[in-house]
Amino acid sequence: MFTTLVDTFTALVPRELETTAVENGLRTTVIQALRSCQGALQLGRNAFLVIVSAAEQQSYAFYPEEEQILSPSTCPKKRTEFAMGRAAIRHALRGLGTGPVPVLRGDRGEPIWPEGIMGSITHCWPWAVALVVRSGRSFAIGIDLENLEKAGMVDISSLICTGPELDWARGGYDFQERLAMIFSAKETVYKGFYRFCRRYIDFKDVELSWIPERQLFTVEILGGTRNEFRSVRGCEVHCRRFRGLVFSCLVHEPAKEVA
Ligand SMILES: CC(C)(COP(=O)(O)OP(=O)(O)OC[C@H]1O[C@@H](n2cnc3c(N)ncnc32)[C@H](O)[C@@H]1OP(=O)(O)O)[C@@H](O)C(=O)NCCC(=O)NCCS
Repeated sequence: MFTTLVDTFTALVPRELETTAVENGLRTTVIQALRSCQGALQLGRNAFLVIVSAAEQQSYAFYPEEEQILSPSTCPKKRTEFAMGRAAIRHALRGLGTGPVPVLRGDRGEPIWPEGIMGSITHCWPWAVALVVRSGRSFAIGIDLENLEKAGMVDISSLICTGPELDWARGGYDFQERLAMIFSAKETVYKGFYRFCRRYIDFKDVELSWIPERQLFTVEILGGTRNEFRSVRGCEVHCRRFRGLVFSCLVHEPAKEVA
């Protein structure tokens, strides 16, 4: 039996019903994704998921180094989103018995985790979510939460989809929902594998195939980028729709290179 530790963050404040419902959707998806690495991660002890809502998280005291990441002209909403993300991280690290430490940003926006910690962050107003894992091994971890209504405002299919993905998106009863799933899943691939590839991954470098009975996408690297992105090989992205949201999660341990 394994469980993913899930911090209810506002244990002292009654949880908003909506947040609890969203948290349940997130937790189910994360548990599915973590299952693929169950042996390596000793789950129940080494993974922590936190969701913070704007309604419940009124303020957050930045570490001075975190505050310096933001430019003085950052708009209040962006500042609040960033603060909520950092609050989620702080609680997740505490849940793993690590910290307190600031989590800064690298050159391409990637979070810089303490030694032995890996994770991912997503913001989708009014929520911020952090998934943090502790391991001596190296995992790609990516999460992404999207609001379906917002995602449906602009048709970005020609920018993000390969031909077969477009066929799949058009073949369902809700084109925008499928498009949001593809977008969200691809963003997790970028977030998860940037630390291995150290370069931008274009949406069309990757092709997803939906496996309905497993509620996940398999991921294939296309064309000339196969060698550069070989760490992605074999990766799967779990993806769920609930309460007007799409949530994607990947946890993958790249195969060791054979010399
Ligand atoms: C970086 C990106 C994925 C962020 O996604 P988003 O939907 O805009 O925003 P989210 O709130 O979900 O995620 C933001 C978090 O992503 C993380 N992030 C940003 N750049 C990252 C990178 N290079 N590597 C890993 N994580 C990164 C950060 O933790 C950030 O939160 P923070 O600024 O509070 O620390 C997106 O802006 C982007 O550049 N996408 C294009 C690349 C891509 O997705 N390609 C598809 C490849 S198949």
